[in-house]
Amino acid sequence: MSEEKCKRVYITTPIYYVNDVPHIGHAYTTIIADTLARYSRMVGMDVFFLTGTDEHGQKIEQAAKAKGKSPQEYANEISEKFKSLWDEFDISYDKFIRTTDENHIKGVQKAFEVMYEKGDIYKDLYRGHYCVSCETFFTQQQLVDDEFCPECGRSTSIVEEESYFFRLSKYENRLLEWYESRPDRILPKSKKNEVVNFVKNGLDDLSITRTSFDWGIKLPSCLNDPKHVMYVWLDALMNYVTALGYGTDEKLMHYWPAKVHLIGKDILRFHAIYWPAFLMSLGLELPHHVAAHGWWTRNGEKMSKSKGNVVDPKEIADAYGLENFRYFMLREVPFGQDGDFSQRALIDRINSDLGNDLGNLLNRIIGMSGKYFDFKVDSEGVKKWHEKELKDAEEIFSTLEPYLYEIQTNRYLEELWKTLRIANKAIDTAMPWVKMKEKKEDEAMATIALVANILAKVSVLLHPFMPKTTQTIAKSLGFTVNNESYNRLIKSGELLKTFTIEKVPPLFPRIEEPLVETPAEKAETAAKEDKKEVKSKKSESNEESKAGLITIDEFFKVSLKVGTVVEAEEVPKSKKLLKLQVDLGEERPRQIVAGIKEWYSPSDLVGTQVCVVANLKPAKLMGMVSEGMVLAAKDEDGLSLIRPERPKKAGTAIG
Ligand code: ME8
Ligand code: MG
Repeated sequence: MSEEKCKRVYITTPIYYVNDVPHIGHAYTTIIADTLARYSRMVGMDVFFLTGTDEHGQKIEQAAKAKGKSPQEYANEISEKFKSLWDEFDISYDKFIRTTDENHIKGVQKAFEVMYEKGDIYKDLYRGHYCVSCETFFTQQQLVDDEFCPECGRSTSIVEEESYFFRLSKYENRLLEWYESRPDRILPKSKKNEVVNFVKNGLDDLSITRTSFDWGIKLPSCLNDPKHVMYVWLDALMNYVTALGYGTDEKLMHYWPAKVHLIGKDILRFHAIYWPAFLMSLGLELPHHVAAHGWWTRNGEKMSKSKGNVVDPKEIADAYGLENFRYFMLREVPFGQDGDFSQRALIDRINSDLGNDLGNLLNRIIGMSGKYFDFKVDSEGVKKWHEKELKDAEEIFSTLEPYLYEIQTNRYLEELWKTLRIANKAIDTAMPWVKMKEKKEDEAMATIALVANILAKVSVLLHPFMPKTTQTIAKSLGFTVNNESYNRLIKSGELLKTFTIEKVPPLFPRIEEPLVETPAEKAETAAKEDKKEVKSKKSESNEESKAGLITIDEFFKVSLKVGTVVEAEEVPKSKKLLKLQVDLGEERPRQIVAGIKEWYSPSDLVGTQVCVVANLKPAKLMGMVSEGMVLAAKDEDGLSLIRPERPKKAGTAIG
C-alpha cells in the first residue's frame, strides 16, 4: 500500500449497530484505525478518519421496542455511548457519522436515484430466508438444517414482499477484475480467495428495499413509493461517501477513494462485493483496500452482543491503562486471525514487553546517566563506539512502515522490539559501570547515548500505538514526538543533540494478578486456589521436603549435561516456544521445545551452548515431542539461559 502513498488518506471503521453497547471487538477495529490515522498524520499526510453508528433496520427497531423506546430515542442513547467511549479512548476521528443524520439520508436517496436512473435498480417480488439478527437474506442451500442462519445460528424466517433489486449480477466480471488488479485489495491477502470464489459461484441480484417495517430511509420522492424503506446495508455502506458530503455538500469528496476500510471478517462480503458494486454503479472510484481482521473470542467463541459473552473495553482500559490495552490488542494477534481475550495474556504483555523491555531500558539509562554524568547525554561517541548496533537498529526502523500499511501491527511491534533488545544487549556487553571504573568515560557515555537514541526513535515509531506514553518517554529525552522529530530522527536518521535526561516515575508498574473479575476470571482463580491447596497439603505430609532439603543421591538422579544448539526455529502460532535441536554427544541431536522465544531469536541460539536436563521423561508441547529441558533463570529483567562459562564438549556431565 505504501508505494501509492499520496498526501491524502481516508481511513474508516465500520459504523457500529446501536442495538447494544460497545465491547472490545469494536474497540479493536477502532484502535487499529486510530493507530493508522495517527501514523499517517505523524508522517505528514492529510488524514480523514471516519467512524460512527448504524442506526436503521429491523434489528434496531426490535431492540428499541423491547426497551419501550422509539427507535430514534434508543439510537440516540446508544450512539452517544459509542461516541463517548471513543472520546474517552482519545480516538482521533475527524467525523462521527450517524445514519440518522439528515445529510446521510439525503445522500443515500441521491445514490438510489443515480443507480435507478442508470437502470441498475428494478422492482420485482422477493421471497427468501431472512435472518433479522444479521439483517441478511440467505438461499436455501446456505441455511443450516434448512432453517438456521449460517452466520449466527438463529432461526430464519421466510419473507415474501415486493422489493426493489440492485443488478449485482451485472458486476460479477468487473468485481473479479478488481480483485485481480492488485494482490492486496483485500487484506490479509489470504482472504482474497474466499471472496473470489463467492463471486465466481454467481451473484444473484440484491433485494435492496423492505416493506415489512418502517425504520429506514425512504426511497427518493421521485419514485413515489412510500411503503418501501431501504435495505440497511445499502444505507450503511453509503456512509463512507455521505460522510464526505456525497449528494449534498461535496466539499470533502476529494478524500475519496478510501485508503482502507477496516472491518471484521464478519462483514467482509458486504465490503468486498456489494460496496464496490454500488460504487461502480455510481461511477465512483473503488477503495484501495478492504482489511478484515479476525474475531476476539472468549473461550473460543466469538465475542458478540448477541452471545452475551462480551468484555467491557472501558473496564479493562481503566484497570490496566488505556495505552497498555492498545498495545496488547495491536501486538497480540496476527492480523486476520482470531484471538482469545484473557487478562493473563494482557498482564504478560505489560510485564514483559512494556515493563521489562521498554520501561526498564529507560530506567537503566536514567540511573546510569544520573550516576555518572549528572543526567547529561551527548551522542557524539555513538557512531565511533556503537556503529554496528546503530546500523542494525536503523535498518529495522527503515523496514517497519509496510507492516503498518498491511495492518500487520503485530509484526511492526515485534520488529520494533528487536531494537530494544539491541539496546539492552549493548548495555550488557559494554558494561558502562566497568568502563567508568576503567576511566573510559567516553565509551560509557557512548553506550548510554546509543540507548537513549534507540529509545527516542522507538518512542517516535511507537507513538501512533501509545500516544501519551511515548510523549512521556520523549519528554524525558528532551524532545516532543511530532512531524518535525519524525522527519529528523526517522526519515533523516539523525541523532539527538546534547540533552539532559529528565527522571520519570516507572511507566509500567508490574501487575501480578488479574485486576478485573469477569465471571470467567472468577472461575479461573477459584480453580487455581484449589490446586494450590492440594499442593500445600501434599508437601506438609513430609517434614524434609517442607524444608526443601534433598539428599545428594536425590540430586544425582537428575542428569544435567552441556549441549550445543545445532538448529533452532520458531514454533508457528506460539508466542513462547522455540524448537531446538541440541547436540548432547549422542547419535542424534535431541529435540527440545523451550519457552524462551520472547527473549531469544533462533539465530541468537544456533552454535551456542546450553545446560540440559537430559533424563526428563519426553513430553509433548503443542503436538511436538520435547526430549529435555534447558536451564534458565528469570526475573523481572527477563530470562537468561544458563551456559557453561567456557565451551565444553557436547554431552559433558554437569555436577
Ligand atoms: O456489522 N471481534 O455492525 P456491528 C473483533 N453495522 N471485532 C468485532 C467483534 C469481535 N468479537 N465483534 C464486533 C455491523 N467486532 C454493521 C456495519 S459498516 C458499513 C456496517 C467489530 O455493530 C468488527 O469490526 O455488528 C465487526 O466487523 C464490527 O464490529 C461489527 O459491528
Ligand atoms: Mg454484528
